[in-house]
Amino acid sequence: MPASPDVFHRTAYANEMAGQLLNPTALQMNVRSGVFLSGIRRVGKTTFLRQDLWPALEERGAVVIYVDLWADRSKSPAAQVEEAVRDTFRQLQSPGSELLRRFKGGSVSAAGVSFGFQLDSISTGGGTTFAQAFAALIEKAKVDVVLIIDEVQQAVLSDEGFNLLHALKAARDAVNAKPDTPGHFLLLGTGSHKSLLTDMATRRAQPFSGALATAYQVLGRDFVEWQLKRIAAGAGVVLPDLDVAWEGFQVMGHRPEELLKALVQLQTSRSPANQAFIIISATLAAAAADVELRAIEEFGELGEAIFSRIAAGPESGVSGLFSAEALAAYSRATASTVETNQVQNLLEKMVGANLISRPRHGTYAVADPFVRKVWQDRANFAFITASENPLT
Ligand SMILES: Nc1ncnc2c1ncn2[C@@H]1O[C@H](COP(=O)(O)OP(=O)(O)OP(=O)(O)O)[C@@H](O)[C@H]1O
Ligand SMILES: [Mg+2]
Repeated sequence: MPASPDVFHRTAYANEMAGQLLNPTALQMNVRSGVFLSGIRRVGKTTFLRQDLWPALEERGAVVIYVDLWADRSKSPAAQVEEAVRDTFRQLQSPGSELLRRFKGGSVSAAGVSFGFQLDSISTGGGTTFAQAFAALIEKAKVDVVLIIDEVQQAVLSDEGFNLLHALKAARDAVNAKPDTPGHFLLLGTGSHKSLLTDMATRRAQPFSGALATAYQVLGRDFVEWQLKRIAAGAGVVLPDLDVAWEGFQVMGHRPEELLKALVQLQTSRSPANQAFIIISATLAAAAADVELRAIEEFGELGEAIFSRIAAGPESGVSGLFSAEALAAYSRATASTVETNQVQNLLEKMVGANLISRPRHGTYAVADPFVRKVWQDRANFAFITASENPLT
């Protein structure tokens, strides 16, 4: 894949992750149980996986299979993974295929790899199982295989997706448990639903229980610098200082699209660039948060009271949401008697809507730190205006 000039490449991060996946140290061995990488919406997860991690893994001789479970919602997760696996195997056995041309790992020659089964028979239910297919590939080609599943949480939302995960777990165990295996099978799942991803790695009933759940590293100051330089190439553009742009980028939740939008708006502003940029960033951040805050409103007064309590606590999460003191506070806020089961019910619904996550049993956190910050700012603002208004 030629490197795209429209993408800020994160080579160091990709190399670090590829190294950890393919050559883990003794302390990193649990990557072989699976890795679940989570990050909020629109922060560049998919771009990183496709543009940087995938090439870095191939560079180190691994076969990469990439599937985005949101790419075609009309197909089941299992069907999408089956297709991607079959397609990769097909390319590996076809001399002259694009994959073979760029591939340089293991004992794969230009003539390709031949398999003792029909590729169409690879399936989660019957035929050639993933365990058989991956074990054969790794045995023959002497390579590591990395299956990247973007929006992996989609698989826990149906029985059929659950079967897929079981089939992948069986493949992992069949390959990685072999003492003299010439390569490993690595599953890397990503998504923005932190709670579901954490569950996948920690809940006993989950096939990938024991896997590593970790956070996607958001884009940093170097990305902002790259973006400013690109824009500065145009004639007569107005730009904020790097420090100011970086500040704004953080306020907007490290989202590349918001940064670009803010820079576009800056061009038509009449105030000094730095001053205007801070205001534009704050306004865009608030507008983006509005969408999320409206989603919270849908859970009614009690939902808002519960969310407020979580948002007011530490970013890592809040417990005691069912204590007598908490119930009394909800009752005051909603002017009605609140029971434990109502709170339980709403918490579950809000986890389902990805507004909050459950990092540990009984502990709840706001899923998106950026929404938490906006909620807090609004709460403080409402408090100030209420206390300044003599009529309230
Ligand atoms: N490294 C980068 N360089 C330039 N633009 C980027 C980079 N990473 C992300 N973007 C831009 O940011 C936007 C969001 O990126 P992307 O779709 O990769 O994020 P995501 O976290 O996967 O989002 P979603 O939550 O929708 O899956 C896209 O418009 C993308 O082009
Ligand atoms: Mg994505």
